[in-house]
Amino acid sequence: METIAVEKKKVENRTEGAEQQINMRFVTLVAIVAALGGLLFGFDTAVVAGAIGFMKVRFQLNQLEVGWAVSCLIVGCIFGAASAGGISDKLGRKKVLFIGAALYLIGSVCAALSPSFSAYVIARLVSGLGIGITVTLSPLYNAEIAPAKYRGRLVALNQVAIVSGIFLVYFLNLFIAGLGDDAWDISTAWRWMFGVGAVPSVFFIVLLFFVPESPRWLIKQGRAADSLPILLRIHGEELARKEVLDIKASFNEKQASMREMLSSRGLRTILFVGIIVALTQQITGINAVMYYAPEIFKATGAGTDASLLQTILVGLINLVFTLLSMWLIDKVGRKALVLVGSSVMTVSLAVIGIAFQTGHTAGPLVVVFILLYVAAFAISLGTAVWVLLSEIFPNRIRGIATAIANMALWTADYIVTQAFPPMLNSIGSAPTFWIFGAMGLFTFVFMWRVVPETKGKSLEEIEAMWAAGKTAS
Ligand code: BGC
Repeated sequence: METIAVEKKKVENRTEGAEQQINMRFVTLVAIVAALGGLLFGFDTAVVAGAIGFMKVRFQLNQLEVGWAVSCLIVGCIFGAASAGGISDKLGRKKVLFIGAALYLIGSVCAALSPSFSAYVIARLVSGLGIGITVTLSPLYNAEIAPAKYRGRLVALNQVAIVSGIFLVYFLNLFIAGLGDDAWDISTAWRWMFGVGAVPSVFFIVLLFFVPESPRWLIKQGRAADSLPILLRIHGEELARKEVLDIKASFNEKQASMREMLSSRGLRTILFVGIIVALTQQITGINAVMYYAPEIFKATGAGTDASLLQTILVGLINLVFTLLSMWLIDKVGRKALVLVGSSVMTVSLAVIGIAFQTGHTAGPLVVVFILLYVAAFAISLGTAVWVLLSEIFPNRIRGIATAIANMALWTADYIVTQAFPPMLNSIGSAPTFWIFGAMGLFTFVFMWRVVPETKGKSLEEIEAMWAAGKTAS
């Protein structure tokens, strides 16, 4: 180990100023691949928003089935995300990214052609597996291949890619629904909505041919010689050799096992906080809006086209405020954004509930407060939760703790989107939005009292803060 450290130091001294050798074209290509992973994810989770109203009539679905039609993708996604790391450790990142994109492609085509509701569900489970894999592996691959100074931006890039995918698909939904009358929408439009997902996945598959295997994975497999030409292409000669040593040195960092993590009180607490942070992003109801927006707008009296148009506004506001949040997050900090965002979300949800309760749904009130709610989410929990999750876990539990927190996040997404239609039906719209509002209030208090500000701190400093117990300041 010592020799690695000494060698590293020598190379470091020689590599100062060698930054300009980084091959930007190559780095951009890799970043586009990662972004496409996020875009496919946003695209495919939100496509159902436009389709569900028509499918409900076509397949005569009850509220529970409507929930299942929307959420079954997330179940596939949970399994895809859970297995992606392990399978790609064995087969390589690139091969498994291919598999993910291919599954997604097959799922899109089969959903479009599905002769029955069960066939549709199976197709969506397959798509879900595919996007669970790609959305997990794309940022991982990117982090393993991009030069260190670009890595921090990847988390944010991923979120922008997701919301761009959502925005794009809302547009396509409106365009496709506009191609025919109501009868055509019910028989055919929804099939096209799912089918067009094949296009970005083909694009993704083609691009994958042009990117190399992850050098980090190759080194871990004992194939350092194969990794060198790739690192040379990215970094230029001096930095490439340093990178090999860095990667080798990082394998020596001791990782805690699940058992060790759970038997330490301190680590257990951090894991617990991470899980709650992940949950807050979903229990405040964002995907009830993202996946059911046109149906919510129809419930206020809007027609099919008007509701799809209002949904585009949702997508646009989501995108604009996500960009704003990226700009603000390192300036004002994660915590300030989350505190402001969760309070505005809470108030908006309360007002939406009141509007439904008192029958004031005609007119712009509900639309305006839904847009305000989405803006508040995008500027806060949408980006900040992913950033916090990438920062708050100490090094030796980061891999395993992030995986657990992600699983918690997707499971909560599944529960919310499965439960939303039956909730509207049983307890009614107002109490449903008030429950999300109560979760917003909980999020505010939890973030305020428990979660540390991580802005401008190195991962080591954050770890030291946990150790000293000074976290919520
Ligand atoms: C969440 C997704 C959500 C999206 C909406 C992301 O941060 O993880 O579940 O659909 O934001 O913009």
